[in-house]
Amino acid sequence: MTSQMYNLEAIFTKFDTGRPNETILSANPFGSGHINDTFRVCTSENHFYILQRINHEIFTRPVEVMDNIFRVTQHLKQKITARGGDSTRETLTLFPTKDEGAWFVHVDGNYWRLYNFIHNTRSYEIGEDSGEFKQGQCHVREAAAAFARFQRDVADIPPPRLHETIPRFGDTSFRFEQFEEALKADVFHRAKDCSAEIEFALARRSDASKLTDMLTNGQIPERIAHYDSKINNVLFDITTGRGICVIDLDTVMPGLAIYDFGDAVRAATALAAEDERDLSRVGFSMEKFKLLTEGYLSEAKNFLSVMEIDHLAFAARMVSFTIGLRFLADHLAGDKYFKTQRENQNLDRCRTQFKTVADMEVHYDEMKAVIEEWRKK
Ligand SMILES: Nc1ncnc2c1ncn2[C@@H]1O[C@H](COP(=O)(O)OP(=O)(O)O)[C@@H](O)[C@H]1O
Ligand SMILES: [Mg+2]
Repeated sequence: MTSQMYNLEAIFTKFDTGRPNETILSANPFGSGHINDTFRVCTSENHFYILQRINHEIFTRPVEVMDNIFRVTQHLKQKITARGGDSTRETLTLFPTKDEGAWFVHVDGNYWRLYNFIHNTRSYEIGEDSGEFKQGQCHVREAAAAFARFQRDVADIPPPRLHETIPRFGDTSFRFEQFEEALKADVFHRAKDCSAEIEFALARRSDASKLTDMLTNGQIPERIAHYDSKINNVLFDITTGRGICVIDLDTVMPGLAIYDFGDAVRAATALAAEDERDLSRVGFSMEKFKLLTEGYLSEAKNFLSVMEIDHLAFAARMVSFTIGLRFLADHLAGDKYFKTQRENQNLDRCRTQFKTVADMEVHYDEMKAVIEEWRKK
């Protein structure tokens, strides 16, 4: 992706920044996100913006995605202002288009949005942060606290319900059905080479529907979840080291709050790369789990129900299991969804997830004890 691929100047002028005379001085690809095309724009009036093209191959309902983001950021701004925070730094700010929309659709079919650039911040890639304390702050803990604050702040957004932009996205039972279909079809005759993984998955069939059933029965409430709650989607203030702003709101939708906790655990506690072939290096860091739990519950314990807190450790297991199922199903179906650069890469990805699940099962009581400890503090 380069800035030459699009006429960024023409796209930028569609937005109303409140500075009618400014023009683009430079626009460069920014950050290391893998989904959208992100540019940092600097203008003649020395203002900076984030101009982003939405990847509508992945987000097939861009209008609904943008509508969710608009409503969520508006609501967050009210909350942040009410508690004396800085609503231009603690959430994203969308600039409207000149015809008062929240996004711009180019004739080529691409969807664009313009955010303010949040200065003096940085993000951390997954694995980049060691869990150490820097400037008195620990980034794993800070990121978890930022996601918890985000969930708490969006919890009372007024109706209507947000759009479910990717239906059944985090639903393990749905992913299990997809896995079973891929197994039954076994189009590429790959099942014979992954019997251990298939067995591992089938042995956990009853777990797969548990959280969905609890949601359907009303035992746990539907909330608004971020659904991509990884450390690289939090901006940290460079001066204070605090996790100040949750970004990448494309997947924000109704669902399970505890899924976000699980996804944060999956990303932050992994000891090796997602496709590591040497399984002896793969596992789960209890140390990081403790920091993450501390950060998350410091902000979420009064807002989550008893039942949700009781199922945080289970949700962590289920998220890794769900992602593992998706990799396995895709391997069986011929690598249609997750791109691969080498043979069996999706099977390797599945193996790291399942090894992590197995590791979490071994540490399950310990995980629950950590959650109990922070629930009481
Ligand atoms: N408003 C912003 N201010 C400063 N940096 C930003 C802002 N929005 C995004 N970024 C940077 O751009 C990167 C990619 O943005 P993100 O929305 O996460 O895209 P992707 O969906 O591709 O991951 C982020 O990791 C962050 O470093
Ligand atoms: Mg991102």
